[in-house]
Amino acid sequence: MQVFHSKSTLRAHISSLENQQFSLGIVPTMGALHTGHISLVSAALSENSVVVVSIFVNPTQFDKAEDLEKYPKTLDRDLALLQKVSKEILVFAPSAAEIYPHGNLSKSYDFEGLDTVMEGAFREGHFNGVGTIVEELFRIVQPKRAYFGEKDFQQLQIIKKLVELRKIPVEIIGCPIVREPHGLAMSSRNERLTSALRKEAAFIYATLLTAKTKFGTKSANYICRWVEQQFKNHPSLRLEYIAITDVATLKPVARKRPLVKYRAFIAVYAEDVRLIDNIALN
Ligand code: PAJ
Repeated sequence: MQVFHSKSTLRAHISSLENQQFSLGIVPTMGALHTGHISLVSAALSENSVVVVSIFVNPTQFDKAEDLEKYPKTLDRDLALLQKVSKEILVFAPSAAEIYPHGNLSKSYDFEGLDTVMEGAFREGHFNGVGTIVEELFRIVQPKRAYFGEKDFQQLQIIKKLVELRKIPVEIIGCPIVREPHGLAMSSRNERLTSALRKEAAFIYATLLTAKTKFGTKSANYICRWVEQQFKNHPSLRLEYIAITDVATLKPVARKRPLVKYRAFIAVYAEDVRLIDNIALN
């Protein structure tokens, strides 16, 4: 495993590897790696001869300075974990100055409405920040395939839109959500939960599972009101939003239509820790 901190040395190394059998995958991350991230790395290793894992806590995608400050930074532990996974990994761990030499500025994208709902509505500028860093990583690394988790399903759809808009020749691959044994979706933020709150947070996925069983017979509106009621009865978790949307457009469902895929999305605060999750409904 090799670790690179500069764009130019990473790029030079990748160029030196290129030959007919070479195929390159990328797994972009913000570090504090857990089993969810490693599932993406394993998928990438199974389909590519070389895999770049980027570790960069991207300042432009945080709408609150406090959230950026509190984001766990555990590079040594992350490197030790990746080392155990495979020697074929190239880690790219740049500084903010390396990525943003002119200051932490985002580009502005038109993601055709995918970015104005849910996470985009509650976290101003978030997806412009995500688009900026991911486009930059694609430009530096020039991967054949890129792996993203369905944990951040809205982000996955936006990255697909980004490569379509910018005509970037990379295949975007979505990977299933990895969960803790009691159901909570794995997240770097879970580390900030007390063990009691972590157990309580299993309620989020349990509620999504019940919502899914109701989806066959009840309307989206009914289910959203039902979820709101469940959280009112569960005061240690504060619901920020529940939405049921068309998977392709991320627009809320007015009336269910045949052959359309739907998903439920949720954001919940457990004390000051913001957790998101989602589930396929059909
Ligand atoms: P981060 O939150 O570190 O997540 C990196 C990747 O891991 C994302 O594609 C995310 O969806 C995936 N992931 C996280 N938890 C997962 C889980 N429990 N199961 C499956 N996949 C999971 O997402 C980001 O970083 C950033 O926005 C980034 C794309 C790196 C841009 O800065």
